[in-house]
Amino acid sequence: MGRTFVYLCLCSRLLTIALCKTHDHPEYLLFDNLFNGYNPDVRPTLEYQHTLFMNVSVNLIALHSLEERSQTLTATVWIDLEWTDVHLTWNGSEYNNIQSIIVPSEKIWNPDICVTNEVTNNKCLVRSEDGKALLEHTGKVTIWWNKEVKTGCDVDISQYPFDTQNCAIKIGTWYSVDENIRLVQKYDILDLDNYSPNEEWDIVSSHVTEIPVEDELNYTDLQFSMVIDRRPLFYLYSTVLPILLLSVLNMVCFVVPVESGEKLGMTMAIFLTFAVFMTMISSNIPKSSEHVFKFGIFMTMHLLMSGLTIMLEVFVTNIYYKPKDMKMNGFYKWMFRHLVDNDKNDNEISASRPANTRERLSCAVDETDPWQKLSLRLDKVFGYIVASINTLLILLFFVTVSLG
Ligand SMILES: *[C@@H]1O[C@H](CO)[C@@H](O)[C@H](O)[C@H]1NC(C)=O
Ligand SMILES: *[C@@H]1O[C@H](CO)[C@@H](O)[C@H](O)[C@H]1NC(C)=O
Ligand SMILES: *[C@@H]1O[C@H](CO)[C@@H](O)[C@H](O)[C@H]1NC(C)=O
Repeated sequence: MGRTFVYLCLCSRLLTIALCKTHDHPEYLLFDNLFNGYNPDVRPTLEYQHTLFMNVSVNLIALHSLEERSQTLTATVWIDLEWTDVHLTWNGSEYNNIQSIIVPSEKIWNPDICVTNEVTNNKCLVRSEDGKALLEHTGKVTIWWNKEVKTGCDVDISQYPFDTQNCAIKIGTWYSVDENIRLVQKYDILDLDNYSPNEEWDIVSSHVTEIPVEDELNYTDLQFSMVIDRRPLFYLYSTVLPILLLSVLNMVCFVVPVESGEKLGMTMAIFLTFAVFMTMISSNIPKSSEHVFKFGIFMTMHLLMSGLTIMLEVFVTNIYYKPKDMKMNGFYKWMFRHLVDNDKNDNEISASRPANTRERLSCAVDETDPWQKLSLRLDKVFGYIVASINTLLILLFFVTVSLG
C-alpha cells in the first residue's frame, strides 16, 4: 500500500514536471499569453477611431503574358503587407529574448485587401490554414501574399510590333474605408529584386500612384503601374520580313513574261499568302476599333495592291492574246498612241546604240503585233506604278511607326 502511494506520488510529480516543462518553454508561454482573449476578427487599433496604416509593396516575380486579344496581363507577384497589431506586442526579455515568431495567418487579424482590377474570381486575400505571418515583438505583422494576378490592361497595338504598353496592378480594400485602413506605398516603384525577365516584354519603368475613389465614402487604391516594351525581333523575322519579301515579289510579278503562263499563277499565290498572314495576325489582335492598328492597315493595303495586281495582270494577258489583226478601237487606240508610239522615238534613239539587252528582251515579241507591243508596254507601266505604291506603303509604315 505504502509502496503504491510512493509510486503514485512519484508518477504525479514526474507528470507535473513534464507538463511544466512544456509550459515553461518561452514560445508556448508567449503564444498562450498573446492569443489569450485575442479576437482575429477585430481591427487591431487601440481606439475604434484610429486609422490602421498599412505598408504595401509589390514584388514582381515573373510576367507570364500580355494577351492582346483578351486584354489581360498575367503575372506572379508577392504582395508584401505590413501593419502593426497593437494587441500582439511583448517584451522580448520576458520571453528568453524571442524577438519574432511565425504564426498561422488565420490566427491573427487580416485586412480585407484585394487586387481590384483582377479579372478572375480570386481577387482577395483569404485567411488560409497554410498562410503564415511574421510577427515581431513590436506588434509589426508582415504577410507575403503570393499570388498569380490576371489583371485587365488596355492594350494599344497601334505601334505593333514596336509597341509599348502600360499595365497596372491595383490594390485596395474591399469594405474598409480610408478612415479604417489606409494603404501606404512602401516604395515608389515595383520591387524587381526577384524578377526573372520575360522573353517578349522588357520592363522599362514602373511607378506607384494613389488613386482616390471619390464616392460618399473615401477609398484610396494603390496603383502599381509598369511600362513594358515589346521586344520586336521575333515579330520582325516572323511577320514583318516575310511581308516585305511578299511585297517585293508582288512587284516582280510584272517581270514574268506573259507567254510563260506563270504570270497569273504567281500573282494568285502571293495574294493567297498575304491572306494567310492576315488571318494569322488578326487572330491575335483585339477586335477593337479604338486604336488604329497600323500594321493591320499596312497588311490590308498590301492585300489590296496584290488584288489590284491580279486585275492588271489579267488585263495585260487579255491584251497580249488578242488576235493580231483585230482592230484597235477608242480606249486601246488612245493607250497605244500614248504608250507605244511615244516609245517608238526612244527605240529609234537607242537603235543608234549597239544592240543591248533591250533588244534581247523584246525578242519574244512579234514586232508586227500591236497588241503584244501594247501589252508589254502596259506591263512595264503597271509594274512601275505598283512598285512605287508598295515602296511608298513600306516607307509610310516605318515612318509612322517610328514617329509614334
Ligand atoms: C511603413 O514603412 C515606413 C517606411 O519604410 C516605416 O517607417 C513604417 O514603420 C512602416 N510601417 C509599418 C506599419 O510597418
Ligand atoms: C522588459 O522586461 C524587463 C525585465 O522584466 C524590464 O527590465 C524592461 O524594462 C522591460 N522593457 C519594456 C520596454 O517594458
Ligand atoms: C473624405 O475625405 C475628405 C477629405 O479628406 C473629408 O473631408 C471627408 O469628410 C471624408 N468623407 C468621409 C465620409 O469620411
